[in-house]
Amino acid sequence: MQAQLSTPSQPELMASLSFKGIGKSFPGVQALADISFTAHPGSVHALMGENGAGKSTLLKILGGAYAPSSGHLQIGDRQVNFKSTAESIANGVAVIHQELHLVPEMTVAENLFLGHLPARFGLVNGTELRRRALALLKGLADEIDPQDKVGRLSLGQRQLIEIAKALSRGAHVIAFDEPTSSLSAREIDRLMTIITRLRDEGKVVLYVSHRMEEVFRICNAVTVFKDGRYVRTFEQMSELSHDQLVTCMVGRDIQDIYDYRPRTAGEIMLKVTGLLGPGLSAPVDLHVRQGEVLGLFGLVGAGRTELLRLLSGLTRKTAGSVELAGKALALHSPRDAIGAGILLCPEDRKKEGILPLASVAENINISARPAHASLGWLLRGEWERSNADKHIRALKVKTPSAGQKMMFLSGGNQQKAILGRWLSMPMKVLLLDEPTRGIDIGAKAEIYQIIHNLAASGIAVIVVSSDLMEVMGISDRVLVLCEGEVRGEVARADANETNLLQMALPRQRH
Ligand SMILES: Nc1ncnc2c1ncn2[C@@H]1O[C@H](COP(=O)(O)OP(=O)(O)OP(=O)(O)O)[C@@H](O)[C@H]1O
Ligand SMILES: [Mg+2]
Repeated sequence: MQAQLSTPSQPELMASLSFKGIGKSFPGVQALADISFTAHPGSVHALMGENGAGKSTLLKILGGAYAPSSGHLQIGDRQVNFKSTAESIANGVAVIHQELHLVPEMTVAENLFLGHLPARFGLVNGTELRRRALALLKGLADEIDPQDKVGRLSLGQRQLIEIAKALSRGAHVIAFDEPTSSLSAREIDRLMTIITRLRDEGKVVLYVSHRMEEVFRICNAVTVFKDGRYVRTFEQMSELSHDQLVTCMVGRDIQDIYDYRPRTAGEIMLKVTGLLGPGLSAPVDLHVRQGEVLGLFGLVGAGRTELLRLLSGLTRKTAGSVELAGKALALHSPRDAIGAGILLCPEDRKKEGILPLASVAENINISARPAHASLGWLLRGEWERSNADKHIRALKVKTPSAGQKMMFLSGGNQQKAILGRWLSMPMKVLLLDEPTRGIDIGAKAEIYQIIHNLAASGIAVIVVSSDLMEVMGISDRVLVLCEGEVRGEVARADANETNLLQMALPRQRH
C-alpha cells in the first residue's frame, strides 16, 4: 500500500486547503452560502451539521462534480476552481462520496483501475491487474478477492473498494463523506488506522460523519455548518466537549435525547417460538407486547437483520411458529406480513427503496397507495398530499416542496423520507433496522419521539441497533444476539454497557 501512496501528480506536500466564500444554489435551494475556512495538512478536519446542511455539496465542489456559484478553493497559495472530476484528481484531490460510484457488474480489480487498466498489446493484462489490485487492498480489505464481482460484495466492502480506489491515486487532499455508515466495527477500526496514517503523512483529511464518537476519536479540528452557512471552526477538538459540539450544531441544548417515558405494555402482540431459518444458528423464542419497544442488540453479523427478515416474510423459516395477537400466522412472503400489519423498515433503506426520479411525496405514499385504492382519485390525491406533508413535517425532511425529486435531497433527508413511507402504512408490529443510521442528532431525537409515540398508541416495536446507548435509551427490554442465537434478555432497569456487551461478544472457543 505504501508504494501506492506516493507523491501526487502535482506535489503539494504540506499545503493547506482553503474554502473562500463558497456558495452554491440549486433551483429553489441555497445549498451553501459564503463558506470560508481552512483545513491544515497533517490534520483530520471534521465537517458536521444537520441533514441538508450542505456538507456533501461542499465535497462535491471540492471533487469537481459541481461548480460553485461563487467563491473559489485554494490549495497552498494556488487558487483553483475545478471544472471536472478529472481536474480535481489531477490536482491531488480524492473525494469518497456518500453515494458509491462502482460498477456492480465488473470485478473489484476492474473497478479499482477503471479508466486506467493496465494493458499489453491492447489487451487488459490480467496478471498485472490482479497484482496491483492485491497491493491496493492489502491492509484495507485483505479478504476481498480482486476477481469478485462488486455486485456480490457487502455494502461495507464496497465502501472499502471505493476508499482503496481513491488512495491509489496518491492524493494530497482526501475527503470522506460518511465513510463508516455501513462498515462493521472491525472495518471501522481499519479505516481509522488508515486515516491516522494519512494524517501522519501530512495530508489534508476532511471527514464528514454524524457519529460523535468517531469525530472525537480521530479528528483534530471541526467546522460546523447549519442550513448551508458556516457556523464555526474549532481548531482544537481536544478542547471541545460533546455537549458544546451538539449545541453548536443544533442551535439548542438537547437535554435528554431519548426522552424515555414509562408506558404500560398490553397483551402479547407477536410471539415467536423455536424459530429457525437463514442466519439463525439456534431456535429463537421472543415476544413483544402492544405498546412495548423491544431492542435487539448485537454486533454486525449477529443475526439481527436475518431475524427481522424472517419475521417480515422476506426469508422462509425452516422451523418454529409465529403468532400475531394469539393467532398462528403463515408467513410465506412479505405480502403476508404486510397484510397482517407487520412492517419492516430495512437497514439499507437506500438500496431497498428509493425511487430517485419520483417526488418526495410519491416516495412516501407509494406503499400506502393500495390501502387507499378504493378512494376516488380526488380523495386519494387529497389523502396523499396531506399524508406526505404530515411526514415531511414530523420527520423534518428538508426539501423545498413535497414535489421535489428524491435524488436532490441530502442523504439523511432521503433516509427520513423513506422512514415516512413505512410510517404511512397501517401497522400492528413495526420492525426497525438501524433506524437512525446516517441521521443527524436533532433528527435522531425526533425519531426516538416517533418510536415512543407509536408504542404509546399500542404498536409493538422491535428496534435493531448497534448503538449501545440508543438501545438502552429507547427500549423497554433488550434481547442480545450473537452468532445467530439469542444470548440473553435484559429488562430496561438492569441494562448496562457491561452486561449487554458481554452477551454480544462471541464466546471464546477452547
Ligand atoms: N442537485 C441538487 N439539486 C437540488 N438541491 C440539491 C442538490 N444537491 C443538494 N441539494 C440540496 O442542498 C442542500 C444541502 O444538501 P447536502 O447533500 O449537501 O447536505 P448534507 O449536509 O450532506 O446532508 P446529509 O447529512 O443528510 O448527507 C439540501 O437541501 C439538498 O436538498
Ligand atoms: Mg451528505
